[in-house]
Amino acid sequence: MASCFGRMFSFYKICLQQTRNCSTRFSTDLPTFVKIVEVGPRDGLQNEKTFVPTETKVEFINKLSDAGLPVIEVTSFVSPKWVPQMADNAEILKSIRRRDGIIYSALTPNLKGFKDAVSCGVNEVAIFGAASETFSKKNINCSISESLNRFEEVMQASKEVQIPVRGYVSCVLGCPYEKNVSPEKVAQVAKQMFDMGCYEISLGDTIGVGTPGAMKQLIAVVTKHVPIQNVAVHCHDTYGQALANILAALQMGVSVVDSSTAGLGGCPYAKGASGNVATEDVLYMLDGLGIKSGVDLQKTVEAGRFISQALGRSTHSKVGQAMKSSL
Ligand code: HMG
Ligand code: MG
Repeated sequence: MASCFGRMFSFYKICLQQTRNCSTRFSTDLPTFVKIVEVGPRDGLQNEKTFVPTETKVEFINKLSDAGLPVIEVTSFVSPKWVPQMADNAEILKSIRRRDGIIYSALTPNLKGFKDAVSCGVNEVAIFGAASETFSKKNINCSISESLNRFEEVMQASKEVQIPVRGYVSCVLGCPYEKNVSPEKVAQVAKQMFDMGCYEISLGDTIGVGTPGAMKQLIAVVTKHVPIQNVAVHCHDTYGQALANILAALQMGVSVVDSSTAGLGGCPYAKGASGNVATEDVLYMLDGLGIKSGVDLQKTVEAGRFISQALGRSTHSKVGQAMKSSL
């Protein structure tokens, strides 16, 4: 009996030691702070078929500000014929309550969008390209190389007014039209956008088809050309892989994550793409890993509840659902 306990105790000690080894290795691989880029008001709402009242969008953004999200992509300065939901861009920027230290940004596909966004007082803009020719054509009506020429114009203008520019590369782990996209093609577009002056490159899994191994391989290739501290990940959750893909990216050293409160989102030009990873779910995971973000989870859940109710549906955030039922 005594030797049986002895063996069990030794086994327990080995397990404990392995867990310690594991958690030490695990935690040293991960960043200590992650910047969350909240894309709910833009990516989250751009796909909504019915026009969401401007006051609702403004209230949603104000709640996200109250939650302490450091960067909020509030709207797009794109053609209202292409994306009618974003037609109230100027009104939104005029009406939101701005908090010190928060960056309010917007998507701008070309010089016209950039000038309009700057005149409305954005702190930052994002240009958006793709690693797939067909997606580029469908989304912004030009080839990849034409888009890079347009972006050069935006970069030039941004330097004159000192507005930081972020660069998205879409379809990094798959394209709705061309299916496979090589990491080398993604790295090539990412490098061109970084070299022209984008301070951050956000890698978009537009249709949420990626898996963690593919994400790690992608980051390994991209970071041969773009420093890891300038890389962000933007994961849609169509196949339920977004959190796993984000964890894989964090393990590779990425420390900027895009997410959308309540898991809203999709791209009107990527059929079948569902919402982004929910901000609430990312915050909960980060907290469990001991990674700081400076964002208040409870207030983010409340913002998610507000926008879900306004849209007449339940939140896509698992954490939002769990915290609601545990209240
Ligand atoms: P075009 O038709 O080729 O543009 O569209 P154009 O230069 O020939 O101009 C046509 C008309 O659009 C003109 O007006 C222009 O003034 C107007 P008209 O004379 O016919 O009255 N126009 C504009 N109006 C407002 N703002 C502008 C602007 N530019 C031209 N900036 C364009 C080209 C890029 C404008 C169009 O294709 C477009 O707006 N596309 C945006 C599509 C979009 O917003 N997609 C979703 C965002 S991307 C995404 O979701 C992916 C991401 O989340 C990352 C990921 O998940 O992978 C970022
Ligand atoms: Mg997106």
